[in-house]
Amino acid sequence: MRAECGALLSPSLLGMPASYGIKNAAFLRLFCLISANCLPHKNIDNYKECHPVVVVKGLEAETTVHVPVFVAEVIEAFKLTSAVTFLDATIGGGGHARAILKAFPEANLWGMDRDPYAIERVAKYLPQHRVHLCNDNFSQLDRLPQKTFDGILFDFGLSSDQLNIPERGFSFRSDGPLDMRMDPTKGISAAQFLNTAPREVLAQAIRDFGEEPHWRRIVDAIWNARGTNRLDRTSAFAELVRNALPKYHYGKIDPATRTFQGIRIAVNGELEAIQMALPKAFTALAPGGVLAAISFHSLEDRLVKQFFRQWAGLPITRWDGRSKDERQRPLGKMQTTKPITPSAAEIAANPRSRSAKLRVFQKGGACP
Ligand SMILES: C[S@@+](CC[C@H](N)C(=O)[O-])C[C@H]1O[C@@H](n2cnc3c(N)ncnc32)[C@H](O)[C@@H]1O
Repeated sequence: MRAECGALLSPSLLGMPASYGIKNAAFLRLFCLISANCLPHKNIDNYKECHPVVVVKGLEAETTVHVPVFVAEVIEAFKLTSAVTFLDATIGGGGHARAILKAFPEANLWGMDRDPYAIERVAKYLPQHRVHLCNDNFSQLDRLPQKTFDGILFDFGLSSDQLNIPERGFSFRSDGPLDMRMDPTKGISAAQFLNTAPREVLAQAIRDFGEEPHWRRIVDAIWNARGTNRLDRTSAFAELVRNALPKYHYGKIDPATRTFQGIRIAVNGELEAIQMALPKAFTALAPGGVLAAISFHSLEDRLVKQFFRQWAGLPITRWDGRSKDERQRPLGKMQTTKPITPSAAEIAANPRSRSAKLRVFQKGGACP
């Protein structure tokens, strides 16, 4: 039988390193970690080959430095539920997961992350008997063996652990290969994307996902740099972007910030993943269950807001002219119509929280 999700693992089976003779084997460590609890009938050997967690030495952060946002607010929201089974769909450094396990000592937690390094790391320190981990895109959450959850958390975007490793290629603050993949074993790197994407796809990344007003200049600069080494490394590419922009564009943030964000979103298919995952998460919520979603930019937040409003039977946008009878009947309620924003204290303690927004939806008790 083939595994239905990515590398589904239980830390109880940690410590099973195996070399699979992959290219550059000297640099590869392969851990395949399987949860016998989740998949009791699985042929373990087949399963290992289908869904290994692949990690390359030098790319992993041994311990997390990620500071989670809205921890207290997420716990408060989950207190509204019967709190037996949770899904942390973006387990990252495990900060929210640990807080959930501590606040609800009887509960079990499923954790997903598309980043194999995150999964490998959290597996080392979360309590084995209460946690199941899955190295997969949350867009596939319906493939988890566990079908219903009392609380589901999404904390979108990147973790500091990913941002801080230059070899992952997310940051222009230190030089590294222009990679930007959250799962470096899948898809194409940002450098390959810049060298091969059609013009309209580049424009969509920089204009729509990066919200860069001078996107045309940057697309032209990328087009002209194809085939040179200026698209291969983070610092060379950041310089190319800065040079393409008019000097008055230089504000408080580095002028390359928006372009890096747009390309990262495109390379990882981030918005499509959210669009696929949220309806699946709604289906997986138990009656009375709570979905909490933390966004870091307006494109993510807009998607969350629109799904939540649709489920709550509200107009989806201000242009939604349908009457109450024409709209979907309410399937639950939004905890607040406006998003929750961080307190001054949280921003002071964790400047990354500045742009964070939390939205909470509770499924109706009578839902099937
Ligand atoms: C902001 S961090 C989460 C931090 C985590 N809440 C904590 O407390 O440490 C976001 C994580 O989500 C993961 N991620 C982003 N998009 C994903 C997707 N589509 N599927 C699975 N994981 C994803 C990233 O790899 C990253 O580890």
